[in-house]
Amino acid sequence: MNILITGGAGYIGSHACLEFLNAGHQITVVDNLSNSKFESLKRVERITGKQIQFYETDILERVKLNEIFSKNKFDAVIHFAGLKAVGESTKKPLEYFQNNVCGTINLCEIMKKHDVKNIIFSSSATVYGDPESVPIAEAFPLSATNPYGRSKLMIEEILRDLYRSDEKWNVVLLRYFNPVGAHKSGKIGENPNGIPNNLMPYISQVAIGKRKNLQIFGDDYPTKDGTGVRDYIHVVDLAVGHLKALRKIKDNSGLKIYNLGTGNGYSVLEMVKAFEKASHRKIDYKIIARRSGDIAECFADVSLANKELNWKAKRNIDEMCADAWRWQSKNLNGY
Ligand code: NAD
Ligand code: UFG
Repeated sequence: MNILITGGAGYIGSHACLEFLNAGHQITVVDNLSNSKFESLKRVERITGKQIQFYETDILERVKLNEIFSKNKFDAVIHFAGLKAVGESTKKPLEYFQNNVCGTINLCEIMKKHDVKNIIFSSSATVYGDPESVPIAEAFPLSATNPYGRSKLMIEEILRDLYRSDEKWNVVLLRYFNPVGAHKSGKIGENPNGIPNNLMPYISQVAIGKRKNLQIFGDDYPTKDGTGVRDYIHVVDLAVGHLKALRKIKDNSGLKIYNLGTGNGYSVLEMVKAFEKASHRKIDYKIIARRSGDIAECFADVSLANKELNWKAKRNIDEMCADAWRWQSKNLNGY
């Protein structure tokens, strides 16, 4: 199929590009490089020996986006482009709504105009807010605690309404849990700007000596060891989940929503131990106060994706840490 991948130069997008190319699809990436480097795509081309058509374009630029759709006949769009830093979103809510929500509306308008009605959207477990229980199933109540999460919820609603208005659309909302790890080659991986917000890239930077120690946000949660529990999923498993979602779309599946996680919860301290084992480096840490907005425990019920997509995450926590370490230790300063 001929696929447009928005945000394809980013962390998850670049891994998805690799899997889509290896599966024989033709791909075009639209990315404004606001949080990524073109180098990631060059490396994907080198690993796969295949080519990517690239446009350095913002999805808010209607005229350019329209031109891209006029020049290409896409079968489907995988929509990763978006801003994703929770803390930043509380300081710059308008930028987040403009970029994520208006960007998606723009994209869908142009898709509609060109009669491209298949879209897979990167949603997030953040749409479950603070869940009443775990594991979290797709039918759980939705809420948002910050502008980033609200932008994801709004986009989900917009895409639902779009489908209700015209059932020729096929929409798959994929709710990712916590993506970590990197491609086995060690050539592509997560490349955060500045101080990482997320646990895994922070631990990796402590391991290479770029940061002194990890600050653990609270050890008084009602969890196995008091630290926060999350469902970490290998980014390659996540990328493969998109391939399966695309297969689903081919059967005119309508509107579908799936959790993509492993179904297992690991604490911050368990992640530190697993990373020490993978890297043979000591990760110094200190416990500090809870981070505002964090929840105690979050992991997925993945039975729906297992059943309907025939998808299951295969890579365990040791592989996630080993692959993250390979990427980080071979690329001390990222791309
Ligand atoms: P990323 O920042 O690495 O990738 C996003 C890409 O989109 C970047 O390359 C960026 O340059 C591009 N982009 C942003 N705004 C754009 C715009 N207006 N026009 C064109 N390109 C634009 O992030 P990621 O971790 O790869 O996340 C991909 C998607 O998955 C995002 O939508 C994110 O919200 C979602 N998601 C990520 C996580 C996570 O923990 N990484 C969890 C749940 C959901
Ligand atoms: N943590 C620390 N120290 C750090 C960073 C994180 O102790 O320096 C802890 C957090 O308190 C939490 C766990 O590690 O218990 C994971 O935190 P992350 O920031 O890596 O991930 P979150 O679960 O907070 O959020 C991530 C993304 C969100 C997304 C969510 C679900 O940042 O955008 O996963 O997909 F919505």
